[in-house]
Amino acid sequence: MSLLTVRNLSIAAGARTLVEEVDLDLAEGEVLGLVGESGSGKTITCRALMRLLPAGELQIASGSIELRGRDLTRASEADMRKVRGVEIGMIFQNPNSHLDPVMRIGDQIAESVRFHEGASANEARNRAIELLRQVGIPDPARRIDAFPHEFSGGMRQRAMIAVALACRPKILIADEPTTALDVTVQAQVLRLLLDLRDRLGLAIMLVTHNLGVVAQTCDTLAVMYAGRVMERGPKRDLLRTPAHPYTEALLKCQPGSADPAQPLPAIPGQPPSPNAFPDGCRFHPRCPRAAIICQEQRPALRATSAKRAAACHFAVVP
Ligand SMILES: Nc1ncnc2c1ncn2[C@@H]1O[C@H](COP(=O)(O)OP(=O)(O)OP(=O)(O)O)[C@@H](O)[C@H]1O
Ligand code: SF4
Ligand SMILES: [Mg+2]
Repeated sequence: MSLLTVRNLSIAAGARTLVEEVDLDLAEGEVLGLVGESGSGKTITCRALMRLLPAGELQIASGSIELRGRDLTRASEADMRKVRGVEIGMIFQNPNSHLDPVMRIGDQIAESVRFHEGASANEARNRAIELLRQVGIPDPARRIDAFPHEFSGGMRQRAMIAVALACRPKILIADEPTTALDVTVQAQVLRLLLDLRDRLGLAIMLVTHNLGVVAQTCDTLAVMYAGRVMERGPKRDLLRTPAHPYTEALLKCQPGSADPAQPLPAIPGQPPSPNAFPDGCRFHPRCPRAAIICQEQRPALRATSAKRAAACHFAVVP
């Protein structure tokens, strides 16, 4: 059953629509990968789910975000403070900007536990130690009193995961959680996320640029381009038989998918800016299969099979 159901979500900056008609589903224990080139709207979509769009700059223009049947777009700010952390945790690409540099790591975790669960100082401290242990921080009873700068990059990222999990959320939104880390630490953090999924039944929305990461971690995939979902479905199927030319183009760009003797293919052209989204299919200026209809009519995201959907007039039906 879907824990989080996003329907028709559009996000605007004043009169400009940046993200349009996004549909996503996340079930208990599922890892959903959100992929797409830079600027496709992954981060603002995640922020919208938490109702953390920058006030006065971006707004949810339409759509619904249902968490166990409750529409978060209509929730009060007081309700959202309970949702954040308790029901949905979020981790970010750069832990430095989300951990308080002058507060001990353990206090940052314990503060959240005390605020949301009304735990005593002692209970909260024990829980913080347990959480640091769960995310693989060695000697947590001692490290709990460290400041963020005393941790390595990988440990700071783990500490941020511990903060996000402090109140046992069922959903974790992870926006490029490993991009700033070196490859070995990246692999460790991804393994940790999968381990937490297995142990706690966490549902994870994982934003990444890296299809290698997707291949290793995700169950399902949503591919975004220019603010719209172009294709979604089970990861294995999308990687094996992409239905959408954009998914296919992304796969061709990934290291390892081409002849190593040849230079890496890049998708020709640039993604459009939200000031100048093309009419019709937004991918048409870069699409090798574009026809006249693609310039004129925007393809809706349509089911191509029981579990898959693609937004293309000529989607390959597997
Ligand atoms: N506060 C803002 N005001 C106006 N436009 C914004 C704001 N924040 C983001 N945007 C625009 O929204 C679009 C989507 O941005 P977003 O950060 O979600 O992309 P992304 O897919 O996360 O990219 P990346 O992979 O580089 O992180 C971009 O065109 C961006 O310029
Ligand atoms: S609708 Fe047309 S332009 Fe868009 S992806 Fe499909 S074939 Fe390409
Ligand atoms: Mg982003």
